[in-house]
Amino acid sequence: MLVLGFLGSPKVNGHSGKLLKKALEGAESRGAVTKRYDLIKLNVKYCMGCNTCYHKDPELLIGKCPLKDDMASILEEYVKADGYIFASPVYDANVTALMKTFLERKIMLSYKAPDAYGKLPESRCPANFKKKASFIVTGSAVDEFKEVMADPCFEAIEAHLMLEQVDTANEMYVGGIENISQETFSERLNQAFQLGAHIVEEIEKARTEG
Ligand SMILES: Cc1cc2nc3c(=O)[nH]c(=O)nc-3n(C[C@H](O)[C@H](O)[C@H](O)COP(=O)(O)O)c2cc1C
Repeated sequence: MLVLGFLGSPKVNGHSGKLLKKALEGAESRGAVTKRYDLIKLNVKYCMGCNTCYHKDPELLIGKCPLKDDMASILEEYVKADGYIFASPVYDANVTALMKTFLERKIMLSYKAPDAYGKLPESRCPANFKKKASFIVTGSAVDEFKEVMADPCFEAIEAHLMLEQVDTANEMYVGGIENISQETFSERLNQAFQLGAHIVEEIEKARTEG
């Protein structure tokens, strides 16, 4: 089983990065193979909205984007994976531009025939919710502000993944990050480890049931 981690923070060893590292260790503890993508280190250009990726060569799962960057190789791995863990700080009450830019570049995976636009759920690579995703979001705002700060982040990724028929396993918000004590952060790291272990269990469960 392959679980991919995507980091939306520009700080690869910041709070979100440390939590993602633990979550991937949790997934490995249940037998998954993991791979982490630090989006800041990759060349991922803005989607130009040309629609070439799904209108030209529609038989190709990941399409043929005219932009020349790292996205094609990430997508080749992405479609092979069984689960995903997305970690992002809150920036202006949403995921970072790094994360959002990456999500937009996966639009071809939610391809629909023209007469099916706007209808859900139907995707180009139906996973029938057997693939799972978990989200880790960090922010300055204390946990009580989760609804305002973190929920828009969860919803942005979740709505995007619904189009790919990938279901949510877990969401975790770690607030008050600038003033968090070492003790509380260690507890949150343990929770991240559990989140990683849990996604593997959820994928296995979905497969057994399906
Ligand atoms: C440009 C910018 C915008 C931010 N906007 C918010 C915000 O809207 N809400 C919030 O709680 N924290 C906000 N923060 C604080 C970050 O979410 C916080 O520092 C983050 O958890 C750091 O994560 P990292 O160590 O993984 O980079 C913002 C930080 C920056 C740099």
